[in-house]
Amino acid sequence: MAKISVSTLAKKKQAGEKITSLTAYDASFAKLFADNGVDAVLVGDSLGMVLQGSDDTLAVSIEDIAYHTRCVRAGSRDLFVIADMPFMTYNTVAASCENAAKLMRAGANMVKVEGGEWLHDSIRALTQQGVPVCGHLGLTPQSVHVFGGFKIQGRDQAQAQKMIADAQALEQAGAQLLVLECIPSALAKAITDAVSIPTIGIGAGNQTDGQILVMHDLVGISAGYIPKFSKNFLAETGNMPAAVQKFCEDVKSGAFPGPDHEFN
Ligand code: KIV
Ligand code: NA
Repeated sequence: MAKISVSTLAKKKQAGEKITSLTAYDASFAKLFADNGVDAVLVGDSLGMVLQGSDDTLAVSIEDIAYHTRCVRAGSRDLFVIADMPFMTYNTVAASCENAAKLMRAGANMVKVEGGEWLHDSIRALTQQGVPVCGHLGLTPQSVHVFGGFKIQGRDQAQAQKMIADAQALEQAGAQLLVLECIPSALAKAITDAVSIPTIGIGAGNQTDGQILVMHDLVGISAGYIPKFSKNFLAETGNMPAAVQKFCEDVKSGAFPGPDHEFN
């Protein structure tokens, strides 16, 4: 597989070719994903839930993400690796730079931050200093206590308009990729049309430029239940490489996510 960069992802959006992405936390899965068609992996702070067993992502530290980023990078030199900035590690411009540096030195190609227009100065500083940034809007799990639970976002008109404006503000600040989580499909499409950077959806319908799933959801072993927007690809394929290939194939054809996996 050729090395994937931020410009590979931008070209895919222009060509109308879907971007495939999964979370990864270790070398073995990173290699499996790289070998079976995944474009980008996210060392997500979802590891607080799926690896550490917490109810939310707030306890994850920058050292946790740096450690798992090193593990993932050891599994593949070619994968595009996005690393999550954990809760409260980008609350100032200085903190953003200091913490992002730890993840880039651990082998990340890009860092991801949750939030809208308020991140402008941090994103500007990061990109100026050589750190590519991915934004994240919608159900941003670090704000679960503000939302009052893991709830679909952007359902009313005012919220939807604000999210479109936030997406544009993130692009303006220098963000080069945008994750959209658990929002109505029509809003995800509107945001995808309103920005020129690629959008990657999770629980956001099939009209974003790409899709991401938490790897534990893809194989049906997340603690407790499979979210509505996800699908157990292992159940229908019977082995891990085939499950990853089927996910990539279905994302590229637009078959996944289907009507059963989206919010209106
Ligand atoms: O932490 C994570 O896994 C994420 C994805 C669900 C987008 O942020
Ligand atoms: Na995350």
